[in-house]
Amino acid sequence: MAVTCFFSRAAISACLLLALPVIHAQSSTIASTDIEPAATAVAETEAAGAPLQTAEIQQLTDGVVDRIRSDESTAEYAQYFAFEDSPISTQGRRRASPSCKTFPGDSNWPIDIVWDIFDLLLGKALIPTKPVGAPCYDSQWGKKNATKCASIVNNSTNANFLSDDPTANYWPIFEGRTCTVKNDTTGSQCNIGGYPEYAIKVTNVAQIQLAINFARTANLRLVIKNTGHCYLGKSLGAGALSLWTHNLKEIDFLPNYKGPGYSGPALKLAAGVSVRDVYEAADKNNVTVLGAVSWSVGYAGGMITGGGQNPLAGIYGMAADHVVAFQIVTADGRLRTVSESENADLFWALRGGGGGTFGVIVSVIIRAHPKMNVVTAKWTLDTSNNNVDQYWLGVRKFYDEFLNWTDAGLYSFYIMWPTPQLNMAYMFAPNHTLESYTKVVKPFFDYLEANNISLSAPHVATPHTSFYSAYQATWGANNFPVGVDTSLPANRLVPRRNFVEKYEETYALIKSHVSSGKHFLGYHNAPSNAPKTIANQDNAVHPAWRETVFFLVTSSNRTADHSTPTALAARNKQLQEEILQPWRDITPVSEGGGAYLNEASVGELDWQESFYGGYYPKLSEIKSKWDPNDVFYAVTAVGSERWEVQDGEQGVQTQNGKLCRV
Ligand SMILES: Cc1cc2nc3c(=O)[nH]c(=O)nc-3n(C[C@H](O)[C@H](O)[C@H](O)COP(=O)(O)OP(=O)(O)OC[C@H]3O[C@@H](n4cnc5c(N)ncnc54)[C@H](O)[C@@H]3O)c2cc1C
Ligand SMILES: *[C@@H]1O[C@H](CO)[C@@H](O)[C@H](O)[C@H]1NC(C)=O
Ligand SMILES: *[C@@H]1O[C@H](CO)[C@@H](O)[C@H](O)[C@H]1NC(C)=O
Ligand SMILES: *[C@@H]1O[C@H](CO)[C@@H](O)[C@H](O)[C@H]1NC(C)=O
Ligand SMILES: *[C@@H]1O[C@H](CO)[C@@H](O)[C@H](O)[C@H]1NC(C)=O
Ligand SMILES: *[C@@H]1O[C@H](CO)[C@@H](O)[C@H](O)[C@H]1NC(C)=O
Ligand SMILES: *[C@@H]1O[C@H](CO)[C@@H](O)[C@H](O)[C@H]1NC(C)=O
Ligand SMILES: *[C@@H]1O[C@H](CO)[C@@H](O)[C@H](O)[C@H]1NC(C)=O
Ligand SMILES: *[C@@H]1O[C@H](CO)[C@@H](O)[C@H](O)[C@H]1NC(C)=O
Ligand SMILES: *[C@@H]1O[C@H](CO)[C@@H](O)[C@H](O)[C@H]1NC(C)=O
Repeated sequence: MAVTCFFSRAAISACLLLALPVIHAQSSTIASTDIEPAATAVAETEAAGAPLQTAEIQQLTDGVVDRIRSDESTAEYAQYFAFEDSPISTQGRRRASPSCKTFPGDSNWPIDIVWDIFDLLLGKALIPTKPVGAPCYDSQWGKKNATKCASIVNNSTNANFLSDDPTANYWPIFEGRTCTVKNDTTGSQCNIGGYPEYAIKVTNVAQIQLAINFARTANLRLVIKNTGHCYLGKSLGAGALSLWTHNLKEIDFLPNYKGPGYSGPALKLAAGVSVRDVYEAADKNNVTVLGAVSWSVGYAGGMITGGGQNPLAGIYGMAADHVVAFQIVTADGRLRTVSESENADLFWALRGGGGGTFGVIVSVIIRAHPKMNVVTAKWTLDTSNNNVDQYWLGVRKFYDEFLNWTDAGLYSFYIMWPTPQLNMAYMFAPNHTLESYTKVVKPFFDYLEANNISLSAPHVATPHTSFYSAYQATWGANNFPVGVDTSLPANRLVPRRNFVEKYEETYALIKSHVSSGKHFLGYHNAPSNAPKTIANQDNAVHPAWRETVFFLVTSSNRTADHSTPTALAARNKQLQEEILQPWRDITPVSEGGGAYLNEASVGELDWQESFYGGYYPKLSEIKSKWDPNDVFYAVTAVGSERWEVQDGEQGVQTQNGKLCRV
């Protein structure tokens, strides 16, 4: 960034197009040393019964905004950084809402000096985007560096590597594949594509507030990236300003927490904390918390706002059911406490209503539960020692016993391959001893034996005395495949009713899905088991989760071509019409079905219903109240039907285009 900047009258008039009221154009020189970071340590020390974290104490206050307004070096641009309700804000005086978010190259894109000032106010946290794959190309970011490229290629499916990059995303399709990580790049180019223009390396609340004020005032697209896991590309956005929250890592264990609606052990987690960080911290303190299967997922961002399906679901419900309070920055730039006693509508919406929609979560307080026993197990059933009929006899018994297992609180994650194979890795039996677990599953394994059906990998069950030990012995050691652009994901929530009233049709669909060459990841997953006294279910988690016993994630044909827009469009069409539709038909929302918004297809038909069920109207109202001008947008998020990303013909909806009102 330039240390000394000059600006001209021409540049000022570009600013005026933004509808800022009156800017007195007095040319001046700005030395970076004149501009202090726009943050001040506040006097408050607590919120929602817990100490403020280090990052939360550094805030943008009215006093700081006044300082920006009165300092000679920033005064002219102060309106960009003011709160919505601030006297110098331009909001009330804006002309009609522009039809698109301002895009780089537009005449009202903030001039360089504004970005320079913004960066200084952020404490030099603004990072112009360099796509993660850039070193593999001759591009505006420099010449190809074969050594560097080789290392990036080698790391391109490594979750931590992608999380640690300010803008990298786990699903390159949604970026537009404009700078694909690959070694042989002859004939391809590297462009910024669907990556945001700038990312802010967030280390305090003031930066989040400042960024929201700036994005709102300058009509910029704003996105949030924690890890980049989103299956739908929500943490991407061409021309956007991105809040990269990954470095907010504070974890506070609160053994004697007393907060709104809950007293007992709790953890306060900053927005950048990962599932693995949380599991480790809980274990160190001899408690158990709920979180995702995959350790690299961010805890307080997309996961918790989507609901958080988790291995303890069968006894405790969804992770979001255990949230006590949040600190969030809303679209007006203000930091707020959100709990059942403060901003209760947001508290309801943030637990299930989706990420990147209602505000930026700074931290979350979650309940911690006692340490518990867990039994884990794995086994494989296929046709290496069985004929196909025996295989399906075994599979049938597996589904016959399905509800007995979920009723006992069991969770599982298995893959049904068309080969055929049922690969169980793993079963997870929380609050079970080896003895109690064995009793639950014995009828199944007895049946296999009685019918001479043999497992190709035998059933091995292992008792653990803590969640963490069980987790480490199972998914904690997995490398989940990320960075994949050879398939499109999708899922369905299958309610109990299917196993009771429509069992034959449901079983027939499972069988025909696999027999026609497709696979799925299946889960025993019954958050409905959790008693309401344990799980606070008064939240926006999709009502379908309250009926679910079986969750499945599938995808477009993984061996077919996904490399061009035409191919993608064909794969997506097949995914929607041939692969998903039979599941939608058998699990309609009206009968307790739906789809999990977090591991979903971006092309899901009727996504408002599928992803939010009957809660969509209420969520829309809350969105309109807290973010009437859509400072926050994410594809398939509440309110997103008002916008579209104009990405041309990409085959599926990507984030590589201007964001405009429809
Ligand atoms: C390999 C893998 C395994 C998974 N396993 C599970 C699982 O077991 N259970 C489960 O429930 N989900 C699972 N998921 C889905 C996961 O929960 C979602 O992808 C989730 O959105 C990831 O959140 P993130 O913050 O890490 O990701 P990001 O891509 O960084 O963000 C995703 C969304 O969350 C929003 N967001 C991020 N941070 C904030 C914030 N501070 N405030 C407001 N909004 C924010 C973003 O705007 C974006 O819309 C898995 C995903 C992958 C790729
Ligand atoms: C290429 O990258 C490597 C490893 O990051 C670095 O050591 C080397 O100096 C780079 N080469 C050039 C020509 O920049
Ligand atoms: C990436 O891969 C290289 C080479 O295999 C390795 O040395 C490095 O530690 C990895 N991680 C990062 C962040 O580059
Ligand atoms: C890739 O990186 C891993 C560690 O991340 C390392 O073990 C491996 O040797 C690397 N491979 C190459 C080809 O550099
Ligand atoms: C990468 O490409 C270079 C040429 O650009 C080639 O020399 C090298 O062998 C390739 N490396 C790999 C791992 O394919
Ligand atoms: C956790 O429990 C173990 C053994 O039960 C004990 O040694 C340890 O001190 C406990 N740790 C905390 C932080 O309470
Ligand atoms: C399993 O559940 C079925 C009903 O779904 C029931 O008939 C059967 O007795 C149960 N088996 C065991 C061993 O409990
Ligand atoms: C765990 O099991 C015990 C009995 O074995 C029971 O009393 C307790 O309620 C269970 N806990 C949960 C959270 O289900
Ligand atoms: C059981 O299977 C084995 C191996 O396939 C076979 O040899 C044996 O005859 C079968 N026994 C019965 C009772 O079907
Ligand atoms: C998937 O695509 C491959 C390659 O085109 C094809 O051979 C196969 O039949 C397809 N599978 C399904 C289930 O459509």
